[in-house]
Amino acid sequence: MDQLLWRALPLLVLLISFTLFFYLRDPHKFAEDECSLVPYSHYWISSKRILTSQGFISGSVEINEGKIVSIVEGYGKQGNSAQQVIDYGEAVIMPGLIDVHVHLDEPGRTEWEGFVTGTRAAAAGGVTTVVDMPLNNDPSTVSKETLELKLKAAENKIYVDVGFWGGLVPENALNTSILEGLLDAGVLGLKSFMCPSGINDFPMTTIDHIKEGLSVLAKYRRPLLVHAELQQDSKSHLELEGNHNPLAYKTYLDTRPPSWEEAAIKELVDATKDTRIGGSLEGAHVHIVHLSDASASLDLIKEAKRRGDSISVETCPHYLTFSSEEIPDRDTRYKCSPPIRDALNKEKLWEAILDGHIDLLTSDHSPTVPQLKLLKEGDFLKAWGGISSLQFDLPVTWSYGKKHGLTLEQLSLLWSQKPATLAGLESKGAIAVGNDADIVVWQPEVEFDLNDDYPVFLKHPSLSAYMGRRLSGKVFDTFVRGNLVFKDGKHAPAACGVPILAK
Ligand SMILES: *[C@@H]1O[C@H](CO)[C@@H](O)[C@H](O)[C@H]1NC(C)=O
Ligand SMILES: [Zn+2]
Repeated sequence: MDQLLWRALPLLVLLISFTLFFYLRDPHKFAEDECSLVPYSHYWISSKRILTSQGFISGSVEINEGKIVSIVEGYGKQGNSAQQVIDYGEAVIMPGLIDVHVHLDEPGRTEWEGFVTGTRAAAAGGVTTVVDMPLNNDPSTVSKETLELKLKAAENKIYVDVGFWGGLVPENALNTSILEGLLDAGVLGLKSFMCPSGINDFPMTTIDHIKEGLSVLAKYRRPLLVHAELQQDSKSHLELEGNHNPLAYKTYLDTRPPSWEEAAIKELVDATKDTRIGGSLEGAHVHIVHLSDASASLDLIKEAKRRGDSISVETCPHYLTFSSEEIPDRDTRYKCSPPIRDALNKEKLWEAILDGHIDLLTSDHSPTVPQLKLLKEGDFLKAWGGISSLQFDLPVTWSYGKKHGLTLEQLSLLWSQKPATLAGLESKGAIAVGNDADIVVWQPEVEFDLNDDYPVFLKHPSLSAYMGRRLSGKVFDTFVRGNLVFKDGKHAPAACGVPILAK
């Protein structure tokens, strides 16, 4: 017996060493089932309310190897009984949300948000894809090399799929080889600022830089996203009012009037004339991010669309939920740029949404650390501008939207289909055969209080202006490429989202 053990010992040691070696070599190499809370790759999900690309049906969706392979009408009529079926009853099955304006801040400012916290919050909110902004991380994503740092930082940390915008800044706008390097490396498009961004290594661009960028983007057929505010002389305006109380929201509001948005958009729509068919910038597309002004700025965009320019516009739930009149003194959680305007403006934004003049919604999730949000000091002029919201895209839009007559079909268009088109995500944004099985299961009728007991997965839950609100629309389950990544408040053990790169 002893002898046998001695003989087996070298073999045993070898076996243990091998196991350890392979485990330690790649501790992040997860078993397949750690990616998903369902242990099978071929299954059906069924419900009486499935929003497909053809409208609502009662029936089932067949998922195999991460793809939607069939859609069957008739509740309870899915494939043979040997196959796995998850029956969601009355719950709504909808395409996962695609949030194309998110600042995940990694690498460099992970204490602000980060890939792990941001994408776990996304999954919990039914957001199956986010597109990360090129700034607030350090360094900014403005070259092939800095995109590579981003991709490295994202490894094994993303719970949903993540695409990346690159930055258009003066340096690369004037150097095509840097810009083409960035686009060849896979950014889905570019983002630029017409006013200071608040980040040192992300300087603003003039309309001439923007035109240079558009001529490169035209070849790639990828969009340019623009922060459209052009600084006008507003100091004197402030002095005229004699209102310098930094604790009052109105003081901040007056520093960034709608005329800033209007001036920027005026320059942009002058340039987008050339994006029309046959124009010198044909193939280029301008997308205006986070529109706040629903008056003259929106009229300029509507006019440009009417004449056939390649232009689109987004707004964000905070402009549709809050109004300047109700923002309490010192509550800097509400500070963002462009600023949240008055209630009348908010109603006009809703009107534009319902009439289809605003193409899509994004969170512009842009948090920071509590120290920079200056919650204690309450100084609106010095506090970081940015609203924290990624996990609440769906319930916030639904809670306030339904009061304005928004339908679930419209909500899905604004949050899934249109964003997929903007970002060039051909296999996402709709429940259709052949698409990725990116799905949210939720109950629009269920209400909940967004209080301290609510599981918020963002890095700094208390910084969100939505805390304390009562909302409708509870997310139960979230699927990303067929992996059940979030179920009943729990995440799958492993982060199996993938980076999305343009080819
Ligand atoms: C463009 O950038 C590359 C890489 O930094 C550099 O080698 C090249 O000299 C630059 N070209 C011009 C015209 O500035
Ligand atoms: Zn932003």
